[in-house]
Amino acid sequence: MRLLTTVAGLRTYLASARDKQMIGLVPTMGALHQGHISLIRRAMAEVDEVVVSIFVNPLQFGPQEDLAQYPRQLETDAQLCATLGVKAIFAPTPTEMGIHPQSEAITQVIPPPQMLTTLCGPFRPGHFQGVATIVTKLLNIVSPDVAYFGEKDAQQLAIIRKLLEDLNLPVVIKGCPIVREASGLACSSRNRYLTESEKKEAIAVYQGLQAAKQVFMAGERQAQVLVNRVKEQLTPHSAITVQYVECVHPQTLQPLDTIEETGLLAIAAYVGSTRLIDNMVLRVRKPIIAIDGPAGAGKSTVTRQVAQALNLTYLDTGAMYRGMAWLVLDSGIPIEDETAIAELVSQATLEFIPSRDEQPPQIIINGENVTQAIRTPQVTALVSPIAAYAAVRQKLVAYQQELGKLGGLVAEGRDIGTNVFPDAEVKIFLTASVQERARRRLIDFQSQGQDNIDIQKLEQDIEQRDYQDSHRTLAPLRKAEDAMELNTDGLTIEEVVNKIIQLSLK
Ligand code: PAJ
Repeated sequence: MRLLTTVAGLRTYLASARDKQMIGLVPTMGALHQGHISLIRRAMAEVDEVVVSIFVNPLQFGPQEDLAQYPRQLETDAQLCATLGVKAIFAPTPTEMGIHPQSEAITQVIPPPQMLTTLCGPFRPGHFQGVATIVTKLLNIVSPDVAYFGEKDAQQLAIIRKLLEDLNLPVVIKGCPIVREASGLACSSRNRYLTESEKKEAIAVYQGLQAAKQVFMAGERQAQVLVNRVKEQLTPHSAITVQYVECVHPQTLQPLDTIEETGLLAIAAYVGSTRLIDNMVLRVRKPIIAIDGPAGAGKSTVTRQVAQALNLTYLDTGAMYRGMAWLVLDSGIPIEDETAIAELVSQATLEFIPSRDEQPPQIIINGENVTQAIRTPQVTALVSPIAAYAAVRQKLVAYQQELGKLGGLVAEGRDIGTNVFPDAEVKIFLTASVQERARRRLIDFQSQGQDNIDIQKLEQDIEQRDYQDSHRTLAPLRKAEDAMELNTDGLTIEEVVNKIIQLSLK
């Protein structure tokens, strides 16, 4: 493993990887714990080259805060990263990062003021500006394809997502779930400041959030009632001083009166002299069922039937990609002209109307109903190459996520559970052996009157496609860690559908 401390060293190290490999960045301030480890593991599973940065950023500490005291243990952290298989750590000094003792002497990135009026904003003036500045610098130094952040720091994550959008930084941000100790206490580098008895008290912070969640699950939508529930739970704990409990919109961070779709219920509290934060996202939405898996596992038929049986919307992502292929065909732009296609697609309006009364879902592009037009052989031939373009994928993933806000969907694809709906309530990874999938294809070919097909050749093709699908840089096929694998060998479609329904109703 390389421990790099200079920008020049890191850039040189990454130069050779850049063209062929996906680079992932996990920014940290070190003193690594299970929360950090989950980010690193996720990155290791998703990209080829993971850089973990370890930098205690002076810009994000206030004058009264714990910059000097913050735990620094580079050697232990480096050993941990090595055991996780990380190949490069970036651990620069403040001077190398161009951090001047007077913060006014350097260019800084200022997050939108309205994202700083809630939660930690008023209590930590300058903090998120320091985070935004250092994260921008790290992203510019590493130029990763993907960067990983924890949902534990929900305000930080929302500000970073906005920063990327507003500054047009070409990085995909992945938010990772909060990792907790067995007691429920969220892992944090600052937990080590807690005495044993404080640690026991600190559990109440999570318990407060959980108590509010229960009230929410019982139907309560008033933010103030939920906030009060957290506070009530904490009142008996004299060692805990609440700084704030607030319910805000998870993206805009604006205060909510009632939770219409999603609310971020967040808390900061001192336990003794240690400041801890924690949060929970409360969702009103109906469940999302995400079905991924290799081609030929029977995903699309199964998905449609599951949606019908559970009275959920079947999100026909295939029809959306067909729609984009139709758009390109209709425009006359040559398929090789990826730039013109990116311009065309990113300006197009797409509307998906879910299927009703046995009618297929309707696809409307730029106001024109193309539901029939997307079924021609010319469109079919274009779907794969068009879907391989990053701009097309980006457009459709954003649209699918928008449709997913209210939930109530069943969708299938290659990266539905890992990328499009990483927080889907139910994730199924449908598989079937290569032999079984070859057999299914053979039957398909035979039903089309093609009898001279070599089954061994089919098996080889399938193996090759699996390899390509799981190694592609754009939307690779991967089983999400929290997905349930269902092998469909020897099962009828009906049996698979029933199994998924059982798993979904659990
Ligand atoms: P740090 O507190 O070291 O956290 C690094 C990353 O780990 C952050 O994205 C944080 O949200 C995530 N993380 C921390 N505890 C977690 C937990 N219990 N579960 C899941 N993820 C967790 O956050 C920072 O450093 C800095 O502000 C940084 C982004 C590095 C900029 O300096």
